Amino acid sequence: MSSRIIPVPPFDYVVFGATGDLTRRKLIPALFHRFFDGQFDERSRIIGVSRTALKDADFQKIARDAVAEFVEKDYQDKAVVDRFVSCFSYVANDVNDKNGWAELEDSLRSDPEVIRAFYLAVAPSLFGPICDYLDNKGYWRRDARVVLEKPLGDDLESSMEINDAISEVFAEDQVYRIDHYLGKETVQNLLALRFGNILFEPIWDAAHIDHVQITVAEDVGAGTRGYYDESGALRDMVQNHLMQLLCLVAMEPPASDDANALRDEKLKVLRSLKPITGDAVSKMTVRGQYRGGAVNGGSVPGYQDELPEDKKGSKTETFVAIKAEVENWRWAGVPFYLRTGKRLSTRVSEIVIQFREIPHSIFDHAEGAPRANKLVIRLQPDEGVKMLMMIKDPGPGGMRLREVPLNLSFAETFHERTPEAYERLLLDVIRGNQTLFMRRDELEAAWRWIDPIREAWDDATDAPQPYTAGTWGPTGSVALIERDGRTWHEGVE
Ligand code: BG6
Repeated sequence: MSSRIIPVPPFDYVVFGATGDLTRRKLIPALFHRFFDGQFDERSRIIGVSRTALKDADFQKIARDAVAEFVEKDYQDKAVVDRFVSCFSYVANDVNDKNGWAELEDSLRSDPEVIRAFYLAVAPSLFGPICDYLDNKGYWRRDARVVLEKPLGDDLESSMEINDAISEVFAEDQVYRIDHYLGKETVQNLLALRFGNILFEPIWDAAHIDHVQITVAEDVGAGTRGYYDESGALRDMVQNHLMQLLCLVAMEPPASDDANALRDEKLKVLRSLKPITGDAVSKMTVRGQYRGGAVNGGSVPGYQDELPEDKKGSKTETFVAIKAEVENWRWAGVPFYLRTGKRLSTRVSEIVIQFREIPHSIFDHAEGAPRANKLVIRLQPDEGVKMLMMIKDPGPGGMRLREVPLNLSFAETFHERTPEAYERLLLDVIRGNQTLFMRRDELEAAWRWIDPIREAWDDATDAPQPYTAGTWGPTGSVALIERDGRTWHEGVE
């Protein structure tokens, strides 16, 4: 199968927060791959902006080092890297200093025809001042875009304030709110699986599906990342990534793949989520925090041990499990169990669709009843789709049924490199395609559902349940699903 590289028009990416980790680890390697594939050329520019005093050559060195560190060796062609880093320039600018913008202005004026994207990889408190500045200058065109990185608020109110500040300057069709999970190939594949095949849609409902599990497990820790203690797993992972996955599983078929058609359907799911408030919070949610343990064969400290002195005793959750319910005709009575955590047994993101049992079995059950079908969509790593089916065990011995996976492994089927999420997202901004970005109303609907859970946790006197690093989370998470007579899928098949 050949891949199709469609070049994008020339652009200026103005990256605020250019010296941060995100730029080095994600943005530069992603842009490099797109450059390597010939999707843009040297007329495009990446203009770094931050307070640190650097020269163009320093920023080009940052780009060169990031490619050396984060791009696969096979792609490190010196001539291509040289051409790529020549696209990089830098402007030192304190965004709060009104006089500090002249150099950026000059830089942008030098090529007024290109598409312009302002990438705000900075604290949300700076979104307002940056937008104010951009508003006062006439040099950017109506088709300029602004790209926003999370955290987009820490509750509904603060997220509305951020959105209000942005909307003073940019229309919604210029705003690209990143949830990098939407850029993952396998997440987009959920759309292909559901709407590119006739098989699933007729049985994608409460009559055929018993429940859904969405797991995003990480083996890394969190305590040394400063911002995490303010955020916690609910805000860091559930409000965005897990809820977006839930939307893609639960939404109605959109009329087209147009950005708003798709986002309208996701919004309906978010608005159909049964609120979890008051006493229900302790019944439907579990929060945990890891203690020291062993991960991947090495011992690791607990969350508290990683925190600086002034944060010790923190009640921030590093694990969340939630039983969510989508209150509409399609999903009435079908629980969606969500869980995510740091320092779990392994790194795996997976969606499990557990179908109902067959209504009547014609087989002798001496060897056990037929097991209900299960569709396991593995988002990472070892991307693939498995359908667990019952088949006859071959050979003599009567009619014995056995559960066997129908296995689609992406690595075995496609031999090309799987692009990183940011590659797709960064160029979708230039293409003006908002399909994989969150619309304001989606973001706010997600916060509306999250806020009462957060508030109940904040008011609770108890601490998150401890779990040992390297396990699957606190016992409460097991109890949450086992109370309903179900179990978590541990990805062992
Ligand atoms: C980020 C979170 O959004 O997603 C991190 O802030 C988390 O805490 C990361 O580690 C996980 O992303 P991925 O792509 O590695 O699954």
